[in-house]
Order: sequence, then structure tokens, then C-alpha cells
Amino acid sequence: MTEEFVRQNLKAYDSGHDWWHIERVRKLALFINEMELLADPFVVEVTALLHDTADSKFAGDNSEQGYLLICDFMDKCEMSEIRDRVLNVIKNVSFSNKSKSANKDDSLLWVIQDADRLDAIGAIGVARAFNYGGFRNNKIYNPEIISPDESLNGTNKTGTSSTISHFYEKLLLLKYRMNTLTAKKLAAERHEFLEVFLKQFYKEWEFGTGIYNPG
Ligand code: ADP
Ligand code: NI
Repeated sequence: MTEEFVRQNLKAYDSGHDWWHIERVRKLALFINEMELLADPFVVEVTALLHDTADSKFAGDNSEQGYLLICDFMDKCEMSEIRDRVLNVIKNVSFSNKSKSANKDDSLLWVIQDADRLDAIGAIGVARAFNYGGFRNNKIYNPEIISPDESLNGTNKTGTSSTISHFYEKLLLLKYRMNTLTAKKLAAERHEFLEVFLKQFYKEWEFGTGIYNPG
């Protein structure tokens, strides 16, 4: 039922928030919760399924409308009891959300946030980032903003115009923002992959612009 509602409301959106992202977050959240025993699995699943609905249908300033839609759906499906808790999590799950009125002490939020953040790193995270960059028509990399030397020794400046710079603005920070121990363990491997990816990326980039340049 919830799955059908979410599928309906994701239709018109970019693939960074497509159904498969929701499905991965659902699995990750259920796994983290199983390991940590933090919340009722049914509530975890419903929240994971709904977590991007407001965003996806009403991107921009209209997320209030998205929240109303979710409220309405939950009331109709006899989930009024968990409605406010689920909505609080949905409103606060985003990396960039700085809402002050929020209740950040809910273990349900920790689980969903970890699952959502894990899906932004590792191989899937890399794929999603370049997919988003393409969607926005951004450059893959702009050496005038970040040079390989600067980024590899950690003194890089950040800018907003390339997908590689997004790694420094967000992706490489996510490992340190995990709430649960289970997610921290999963994040370690995925974070390592980001570093391997960047290293190889710069190696190939330098080769192309280096002294020896066949072709
Ligand atoms: P969420 O809502 O899950 O916190 P976003 O909506 O910000 O995340 O991003 C969705 C996906 O798009 C993520 O994988 C994220 O890393 C990627 N993304 C967001 N902004 C950028 C950007 N400027 N460049 C490349 N990828 C981005
Ligand atoms: Ni998400």
C-alpha cells in the first residue's frame, strides 16, 4: 500500500531519488534497525518508503504540500498514530536540513538518516553523484576549483560547479556523520571506495594533461 503510494509520487522525478534509491534505503534501514534494535520495523519500513516523497514531488519551496499529501495518506491508511513521528523524521533526514524546531533525538531518525547517507557514498554514491551532475549539466571536474594536489593532501578549496567538488562538500564528510555503530562500519568500506575512486580519477586526469601525452 505504502509502496504503491510512493511509486505513484516518484514518477516525475530525477533518478537520484528514484524508486531504487528508496528500495536500497528501505533495506539498509531495516538491516541497521535489526542490528541495533532501535525502533519498530514496521515504522522503519514506512518511514524509509516515504522519506523522499515530499522532496520528490514538490521540490523547492513546496514541500509543505508534500507533507500534507503524506499526512492525508497516513490518515487514510490508519497510520495516524505514527504520523507525527514519521513526519518529523522525513523533515529532518536531509543532510542540509537545519530546522531548529525539530526533534533530533528520535532513534527512528538515526536509522533512516544513516541509511539515506550510506546510499550517498560507496560505488552507488559515486554513480548517483555523477548522475545528478549530468542532470544539472555540471562538469565532472574543474581543476581550477580543486587541484589534485590540494585535494589529495586535504587542503582543497571547495566550489559548487563540479561533481568532484561535491565529494568534498558532502560525500567525504558523511562517514563522520553516521549515528549508529552498524552504519559506521558500513560507511568505512564505502568511504574507502570514495578515496580509491578519487585517487584513480586524479591519476588518469594528470596523465591526460601531463608531459607524456600520447595522441
Ligand atoms: P538527500 O536528500 O538524500 O540528502 P540530495 O537530494 O541532496 O540528498 O541528493 C541526492 C543525490 O544527489 C545524492 O546521492 C547526492 O550525493 C547527489 N547530489 C546532490 N547534490 C549534488 C551535486 N551538487 N553534485 C553531485 N551530486 C549531488
Ligand atoms: Ni533519500
